Amino acid sequence: MKLRIVKDNKPSLRQKSKEVELPLSSQDIELLYAMNEYLKLSQDEEYALKHNIRSGVGLAAPQVGVNKRMFVVYVQDEDKIYNYILVNPKIIETSAKLAALRNGEGCLSVEKDYQGLVHRHYKIKIQAFNLLTNKEETITATGYLSIVLQHEYDHLDGILFYDRIDKFAPFKEKNNEVII
Ligand code: NI
Repeated sequence: MKLRIVKDNKPSLRQKSKEVELPLSSQDIELLYAMNEYLKLSQDEEYALKHNIRSGVGLAAPQVGVNKRMFVVYVQDEDKIYNYILVNPKIIETSAKLAALRNGEGCLSVEKDYQGLVHRHYKIKIQAFNLLTNKEETITATGYLSIVLQHEYDHLDGILFYDRIDKFAPFKEKNNEVII
């Protein structure tokens, strides 16, 4: 399945996506595995160069033109791989402590470079159906993984990372925030 990444000039990327019916249809399953494969391959330098694609750690269905509440995350952090294919995710807990990436965030749908801190919760609990395990799960994430999950979750509500950058003080840290 060939995926096309929707860019941020497309209004559909700004829409709120719809809940997905479970059990998943075979089309949804096929799409989700294709998205997972896309992400994995995007992190293979040689492949990415050859196919002229950018490397990504997360991909949400609206980014491939499907406005359904599902996304994929493939993160390598400190020699560990965190791979999730989540459907109908709900953030059920957030920490007061915040976190932001020192070098800001990027997005496969955003070509322009937007500088600034994207303030997120340091720790979250997210409940979702995970296609990789085929069950409903509660995932607790901190730091980088937590940031990636929140970035992807935002896509389901039509929110892009640069919406969360303070235009007037893009590099100002919040109280109780870790910069990673
Ligand atoms: Ni994104």
